[in-house]
Amino acid sequence: MTTYKILVVPGDGIGVEVTTWGRKVLEAIARKFNHTFTFDQALIGHTAIEATGNPLPDESLEKMRASDAILFGAVGHPRYDNDPSAKVRPEQGLLRMRKELGLYANLRPIKLFDELLDASSIKPEILRGSDILFFRELTGDVYFGQPRERRDNGNTALDTMIYSRYEVERIARRAFDAARTRRKKLTSVDKANVLESSRLWRETVQEMSKSYPDVEVEHMFVDTAAMKLIKDPRSFDVVLTGNLFGDILTDEASQIAGSMGMLASASLGDQTGLYEPIHGSAPDIAGKGIANPMASILSVALMLDISFEMKAESDTVIRAVEQTLKDGYRTRDIADNQTQIGQILDTHQIGEKIVEKIGRL
Ligand code: IPM
Ligand code: MG
Repeated sequence: MTTYKILVVPGDGIGVEVTTWGRKVLEAIARKFNHTFTFDQALIGHTAIEATGNPLPDESLEKMRASDAILFGAVGHPRYDNDPSAKVRPEQGLLRMRKELGLYANLRPIKLFDELLDASSIKPEILRGSDILFFRELTGDVYFGQPRERRDNGNTALDTMIYSRYEVERIARRAFDAARTRRKKLTSVDKANVLESSRLWRETVQEMSKSYPDVEVEHMFVDTAAMKLIKDPRSFDVVLTGNLFGDILTDEASQIAGSMGMLASASLGDQTGLYEPIHGSAPDIAGKGIANPMASILSVALMLDISFEMKAESDTVIRAVEQTLKDGYRTRDIADNQTQIGQILDTHQIGEKIVEKIGRL
């Protein structure tokens, strides 16, 4: 029987609380389906800076490369947010990890559980049935472009927005292939009316669309996309976009799913896949035990499906989350005016409910 080596990288803030439950869900799945998962842990972010001075120690990177899948939490600490001069920052660990592991494709599925229709600030009749799959490019763009520096005695600063045809092609291919298995519509988001890098992006996607005659391709400017996501979320199926636009649009789109606390993601390249909630370290609620662990648990569902090809196991996790919501249980970020006081649970309590459901499904 295959043994799968899973590396848990909790990082900072609520990353620690939520990955605890991601791991417990994996253990519950292993019991139910007779799999062998082994677990190890590694440091990243502020926690790693405190322990080693380095936001991504070599030891962590080595463990990541040697694992079959990575369950990631979050990085970030308020100390750095108000100190733009800090030279060593938690986010450097995250970005270097993405680059070193070649995780160029970030899949962010935005799927609304019917039970959460009233948790969103968008009207239910606009939301109902929304189901979007984002492909955010993750190792290029202004996040990594060079030069990036201060000039003019520090009074001018610049970053470089840059894409190569190859970088666009490899993420676009994944998005086109995914569209084929869904509603066969792909929206490529750029700012080609202004940016040269976006014009290359659009040109590349246009050329590739010739090989996918069955997929309807739409090109949209990022400002229009930001507006349409809220106005008519159901008009989107697969969305393909660059690193910066994808970062912004997926936070916006998380409101379609009710809360950031519900959104899972998969970061994929040619080797080990990494699975993480899209929410960050949430310092305002860290350590209080009230974070929503469902994004981490749903990231586990993605891991089972994509890295281990365990479809039934993955569906079991999703159904356990769904049934827990059906039973009326909520964390506070997704509670609505119908939620009774006794049904608002903390991280540990809702985690237990989901693990119990897995056992009984
Ligand atoms: C995300 C986060 C990161 C990003 C931050 C923490 C650097 O917002 O994964 O969306 O900008 O990519
Ligand atoms: Mg983000």
